[in-house]
Formats: sequence, C-alpha cells, structure tokens
Amino acid sequence: MNLCIIGSGYVGLVTGACFAEVGHQVTCVDNDPRKIEALRAGRIPIYEPGLEDLVHRNVGAHRLHFTGSIEEGVDRSDVIFIAVPTPPQPDGSVDLSFIEKVAREIASVLKTDYKVIVDKSTVPVKTGEKVAETIKRYNRTGCSFDVVSNPEFLREGCAVPDLMNPDRIVVGSNSDRALALMKKIYEPFRAPILVTDINSAELIKHAANSFLALKISYINAVAAICEASGADVEMVADGIGMDRRIGRNFLNAGIGYGGSCFPKDIAAFIHISDQLGVPFTLLKEVERINAEVRSRFVAKIRSALWVLREKRIAVWGLTFKPDTDDVRCSVAVDLVNDLLKEGAHVTVFDPKGMEKAREFKLVEGARFATDPLDAVDGAEALVIATEWKEFAAVDLAEVKKRMSTPLVFDGRNLLDPATMGELGFTYTGIGRTKAG
Ligand code: UDX
Repeated sequence: MNLCIIGSGYVGLVTGACFAEVGHQVTCVDNDPRKIEALRAGRIPIYEPGLEDLVHRNVGAHRLHFTGSIEEGVDRSDVIFIAVPTPPQPDGSVDLSFIEKVAREIASVLKTDYKVIVDKSTVPVKTGEKVAETIKRYNRTGCSFDVVSNPEFLREGCAVPDLMNPDRIVVGSNSDRALALMKKIYEPFRAPILVTDINSAELIKHAANSFLALKISYINAVAAICEASGADVEMVADGIGMDRRIGRNFLNAGIGYGGSCFPKDIAAFIHISDQLGVPFTLLKEVERINAEVRSRFVAKIRSALWVLREKRIAVWGLTFKPDTDDVRCSVAVDLVNDLLKEGAHVTVFDPKGMEKAREFKLVEGARFATDPLDAVDGAEALVIATEWKEFAAVDLAEVKKRMSTPLVFDGRNLLDPATMGELGFTYTGIGRTKAG
C-alpha cells in the first residue's frame, strides 16, 4: 500500500521504516529540511538499535522515501499518518498546535481521491473529532476522507522490535472503509487488532501509560517501606510479579520514571480528567511519589557525605533509560543538576547520551568523562543513574582502586549488593537495606 507519515521523529521514522520493511511504499515527511537532507544522505538523527539498517535496506529497495513536502506525501498515498509532537504546556495540557497545522495542510492539498488520515501521535480524547472538523473546514475540493486513531505503544531503545511484534494494534475508527484499509496495512504484522471507536482508542494510550507509571510509583513506594523495615524490594517485586495477574514488568524500583512520554502523558491525563469534571487524583499521587524518590536518593548521598559542596562525584548514566541517546526529561540529568546545585564537582559518563547533553547544555558545570573508569578517578562517590548493561561489566576492583572513598549509590539496582560488599564498597541501592 502507499503510505505517508508526517513527522519523522521517533514514532514517525520508526513506523515508516517498519511499514516499508513489510512491503509498503512509504513517504516520510518532515518540515525540518536538515533532517530530510540527513535522512536522504543515510544519516539517522536518533540512536535506536536496528533502525539504521532498516532505513538503509528499505531506501535501497526503493520502498522508503523522504520529502519536505506534505503535498507530495499526500498525493502518493492512500493513508496518511500524523506523527508530529504533542508537547506539554505548563499547566499539563497538551499543545495540539502541530496536529492542527498538519490537519490544515493536509486539507489544503487533498484532491479527488478518498484518503484516510490516521492520528498516531498521543493526543487527548476527542482530538480525532477536532481533526475531522478541521480537515472538513479547510478541504475545498470536497474530497472524501475518514479520520482514524491508531496510538503507538513502542518504547525507545526497543522501538523496532516493539513495532514489528506489538502486543496489540489499536484502531479507533467509525468507518468500515477506513477500517478495511487499516487491517490491510497491519496484516503482515500478525498481531491482534483491537477495533474501537475513535475516543476509546485515544483514551487507551493515556490510560496505558498512566497505568505503567502507576506500577513504577507503586514499587518505589514499596521500596521506601522496604528500607524502613529491612526488607528487600527486589525480592518483594519478584514475589508480587510472579502473580500472573500482576506481572514482574515495570516493577523495577529506582530513582523514578522520566522520558518524553510518561511525565507528559500522566500530566495530560490529569488535565483531561479535570476538564471532563472527573479528577483522577490517584495520578497526582503517582507524580508526587515519582518526584519524591529522586529527592530521597539525593538525601541519602548527602547524608553519607555530610555536605556535597566540593565533593567529587561520578555519575554513570545521563539518558532516561538504557539503549537510547534520549536525554529529554531524564531523571539522571535532573539528578546531576541536583548535585551541581549543591556545589559538588560532578563528572558524568554515558555511552550514548553525552553528545545531546552537551549540545542542549543540560548539565552545565559537569565534566564529561571519556569512559566509566575515567569518571570515577579520584571520586568520593559513584552514582548510577541509568542501568546501562555495560556499567555492570566494568571492572569493579579497578573502580575501587581509582576512587578516593568507595561509596556507591545505585539508583537503578544494577549491581549486586553482596558482591559490592565483598569488594569493600559501601553500597546503597533502592529498597535494599541489607546491602553492602
Ligand atoms: C513508554 C511506554 O512504555 C510506551 O508504551 C509508550 O509508547 C511511550 O512511553 P518509553 O518512554 O520509551 O515508553 O520508556 P519505558 O521503557 O516505558 O520507560 C519509561 C521510564 O520508566 C524510564 O525512565 C524507565 O527508567 C522507567 N522505569 C521503567 C522504571 O523506573 N521502572 C520500571 O520498572 C520500568
């Protein structure tokens, strides 16, 4: 099928590449000429395992094209996906101006053929109705079209496998004609398709992300109780997670959730529920716990070092999670800034996130190390803020040798407390009192 994806960011680019991989003809559109130029030259603007190969292979097979023109993309396609950013506003509401603009632009280039316009961006419930109204208003040719909601559930760091093998595909449609085309697009993915009305599909995305964030805050609250009572949160999480009704995923205690989705989507869902007159107060508590876990962690570091001013602290990790170069809304970045604010001398190392942290000046005043061992040279404390696998593989005896005092604060429970104790570290994890 001929498909167009408007917006070549995380969701748009990965979706476009995966659609091309299963045989569709895909035109990816973006309004940033530098991005289009880079993509045409084979340079991928984001780090995502497997994406570069996928893009190169499908460009080589002439199934994946890039353009700056919405008209070109719409003309070549039967189905047009909108995958533009929906950033948060200070009051938690969602800025829908990019969606609105794209809807107007699509409307202005519609000719005579029937088109399906699919919203893939995460949007508040009832946005599909607005998109349809807008397209109708600006569409001068009277061309027939349908609007569909098709939320995306991919995770950064495993976006390609998530998209190729999704747990489910949600299609919100009020039209049988549009639905038939959507089913054809997704046929090669062999995943269950849940068909709903448009409002339900939109709500599923916010409700799913909020539930996952709730699980994280829940286990983080349990971790605090473990610390106060001498229990071990890892064992407690295993014990809870073995119940199939609950599951072990998203029960990893740490210094909180971050990234460009959870914080924004939870705030948006709170705002939406307030607007609808049914305040979702439970989610305010989820947010409160998430903010508290980081400040409790900083308090632990402060209490061990007495004062942070002039202390040399190494921080491993800047990205909001491993296997990505994304440092947006990263708890690791916030943590580094907490330490810098208190006057500590912070040295950071991250396998993929340093370039963007430098470019966007996210940790001003911190020194960027060349590798994990360079970061700990002379350090009085090591803080693990992101659970990159390669941190667990670093020679810990060498780490100890290089540090001036062997204090380790593991914000992601990456290392084994018993081993750390045997090596002579004073180890502090999250919700693990018997440590080190
Ligand atoms: C999330 C959703 O998982 C995905 O379905 C949606 O499409 C976009 O938002 P993503 O933001 O890429 O994906 O990352 P995810 O793996 O969900 O992690 C989000 C945050 O939660 C990270 O900061 C991570 O460190 C944290 N997290 C996750 C925990 O603290 N504990 C856990 O057990 C799991």
